[in-house]
Amino acid sequence: MGPGDEVAVPAHTFVATAEPVSWLGARPRFVEVDEETGGMDPDALKAVIDRVRAVVPVHLYGLPVNLSAIGALASAAGVPLIEDAAQAHGAEYVRDDGSTIRAGAYGRIGCFSFYPGKNLGAFGDAGAVTTSDPALADRIRRLADHGRTTKYEHLTVGYAARLDTLQAAVLAVKLTTLAEGNRRRRDLAAAYRSRLDGVGDLVLPVEPPNRRGVHHLFVVRTRHREGLLAHLRNAGIGAGVHYPIPLHLQPAYASLGHRAGDLPVTEAWARECLSLPIYPELPDEHLEAVAAEVRSYFNGV
Ligand SMILES: Cc1ncc(COP(=O)(O)O)c(C=O)c1O
Repeated sequence: MGPGDEVAVPAHTFVATAEPVSWLGARPRFVEVDEETGGMDPDALKAVIDRVRAVVPVHLYGLPVNLSAIGALASAAGVPLIEDAAQAHGAEYVRDDGSTIRAGAYGRIGCFSFYPGKNLGAFGDAGAVTTSDPALADRIRRLADHGRTTKYEHLTVGYAARLDTLQAAVLAVKLTTLAEGNRRRRDLAAAYRSRLDGVGDLVLPVEPPNRRGVHHLFVVRTRHREGLLAHLRNAGIGAGVHYPIPLHLQPAYASLGHRAGDLPVTEAWARECLSLPIYPELPDEHLEAVAAEVRSYFNGV
């Protein structure tokens, strides 16, 4: 992988999905997302699959992408599927044969972030790569530790990208409550759904029947995003936007020559998405207060 190569990535994501492509000297090929979930659109991928060397979909907000369709396109083209599962620890996908698989276990490689705000978060920076290919696992372990085979022999030029021992200790403890935290997030999401259904022009997050998300974020869409955001912030509620500037319009990717309008569905998500507070420790009363403020905003518009 290098100059002249392209890798399919969505533009409606955190910049880290595309950065490694650029580090390799390759070019991100930004693929449109679907209107319903914000995940990579298999039909849009189909249009570029013959020119890319790898496919990197993102399980955005904790909801798995359409892995069967995306995986089938990647394998027919003979290119690896690399899952960005940074937001999806423990999310599940039901394959066409009825079996269930976790996000990050479907493709050749899964990438996880343990940034403190993630469903499984360290007390600082940390992350993990998953693969079921033992040779690839060896190579990744070696690369993360200066390309080392033994204490003094370095087979390849590597990186200092080991998981810090202190972070590993924190993660080993927090891992024991991940499933419980994910269940609480799902309950909170269900509570938001029942309280916000039909309010204003809100579009609530959709969970297709073969996917079980972990609600890293609870993202609604509205044409009144800026007004609602200001209203919530005035009420002391920490609402956010993930993400307001799609990657194809970021200054960092100006050299790719994209213009507003190139990815209309992505751009509509960027304009309309708003993240309501969700985390396992969120008290029920706080969720009620957030829902009440959202309703009160729409009563006034
Ligand atoms: C979708 C996505 N990909 C990648 C990353 C990168 O994670 P990290 O900053 O831990 O490398 C994040 C985290 O912020 C993310 O949300």
